[in-house]
Amino acid sequence: MRAATSDAIRQEAARLFPGGVNSPVRAYRAVGGEPPIIDRGRAGHVWDADGREYVDWVGAFGPLILGHAHPAVVAALEGAIARGGPFGATTEAEVRLGCLITEAMPAVERLRFVSSGTEAAMSALRVARAATGRDLVLKFEGGYHGHSDSLLAKAGSGLATLGLPASAGVPAAVASTTVLARYNDLDSTSAQLEAHRGQVAAIIVEPVAANVGVVPPEPGFLAGLRELAGAHGALLVFDEVITGFRVGRGGAQTLYAVTPDLTLLGKVVGGGLPVGVYGGRAELLDLVAPAGPVYQAGTLSGHPLAMAAGEATLNQLDDALYGRLEQLGAALERGLAPAGRVARVGSLLTLYASGEAEFAALHRRLRDRGVLIPPSQYEAWFVSAAHTDEDVELTLEAARA
Ligand SMILES: Cc1ncc(COP(=O)(O)O)c(C=O)c1O
Repeated sequence: MRAATSDAIRQEAARLFPGGVNSPVRAYRAVGGEPPIIDRGRAGHVWDADGREYVDWVGAFGPLILGHAHPAVVAALEGAIARGGPFGATTEAEVRLGCLITEAMPAVERLRFVSSGTEAAMSALRVARAATGRDLVLKFEGGYHGHSDSLLAKAGSGLATLGLPASAGVPAAVASTTVLARYNDLDSTSAQLEAHRGQVAAIIVEPVAANVGVVPPEPGFLAGLRELAGAHGALLVFDEVITGFRVGRGGAQTLYAVTPDLTLLGKVVGGGLPVGVYGGRAELLDLVAPAGPVYQAGTLSGHPLAMAAGEATLNQLDDALYGRLEQLGAALERGLAPAGRVARVGSLLTLYASGEAEFAALHRRLRDRGVLIPPSQYEAWFVSAAHTDEDVELTLEAARA
C-alpha cells in the first residue's frame, strides 16, 4: 500500500495498528486532533505526508541529539549497509561503540548491547536479582523503564498520559515483585527498604525523571539513594536511557557525581537506530551468559547499522555541542515562561500548562503554526544541536499568539 495523503495513510494505520500507532505515546488522545503522518526529517524539522513543514521538538522521543538526517550519521549508515550484516558474530563496530561508552562513563566497565531500553532494564534487573539472590525491585512512581511486566506499576510516559495505574496482562505474582516509592523522597524510599528488609535486589531510578515531565533530582536525592542502596545491600540502577549522552557525555551520573552499580542506556547511543545498553562493574556483567548463569541474548544485538549510527553520533558530542544545547534550551525556557512553569535540565524540558485543557490548546496552537511538541505534558521536549535560533523564535511566537 502506498497512499498519498496523510488522511489516507492515517486511515490505513487505524485499520492495521491498535489505536493507529505502533507506540501509544504517538497517539493524540490527550491533546485531540489527528496525529501527524511524517514523511521525512532534516535537522530540527520534519515534513508530513502532505508536505507541511514543522519545527520538531519531539525528536523521536530522545535519540536525535544531532537532529534528523545528520550528514555524519547518514554517511556512517551508508558505509555500514554496504558491508552487509548483521553477521551473528562480533564486529569491530561493537567494540568501537563500547569503548566510547566506557570512556565516557567510568562506572560502566563492561556492557552488553541489546535492542531497546526495555530490554536493557529487564536484563539489568535480572542481573541484580542474580547478584543479590533477592526478588524485589524498588522503583519510583512516575518512573518509566520500558514495558517489561514488572516495571509498569505507576509508570510514567504513555501510562501517565492514558491514566493507567498499571497494565492489564501482568500476572499479580510478577507485579508483587515491584515496590514503589516517591521520587525525590528519601523517607518513602527508606521506609520501603525497611518494610522489605533483605528482599530488595535493586533500586531503579531515572536520575532525572523525564517521563512525568522533567523533574530534576533534588540536591542530595541521588546521593541518598546511593547510601540507602549500600546500607540495604541493594544495587543502584540508573536508567539513563534518556539522560545518557544527553545531559552531558557522562550522563546524569557524571553531572550529579553519583556512581550507580548498573547503568541503562538507549536512545542517543543508537543515534536513532534501535539500541539499548546495560553495563556496570565487570563482576556484575560477568554474571551474564556465556560468562555466567544469567541468560540474555539477541539476534540483532549490536547490529552493525545501529553501531554505526551510535558511533557517528557520539563522535559529534563535544563541549561546544553541549554548550549549544544549553543555549537553545535556556532560550526556550526563558521564552516559554509566560505560558506556564518550565522545568529543564539542559536540552530536556517540559512546559507545564495550568491544566490538561490548556496544554491541549497550546499543543493545537503550536501545531497550527508549524511547531510539533510531544502530545502529552508527561513527555519531555527534546532539543537537538541542529535546531536554530529561528526555530526557537518561531516556537516562542507561536506560543505567544
Ligand atoms: C527512562 C527510560 N527508560 C527506558 C525506556 C524504554 O526504552 P525503549 O522505548 O527503547 O524500550 C524509555 C523510553 O522512553 C525511557 O524513557
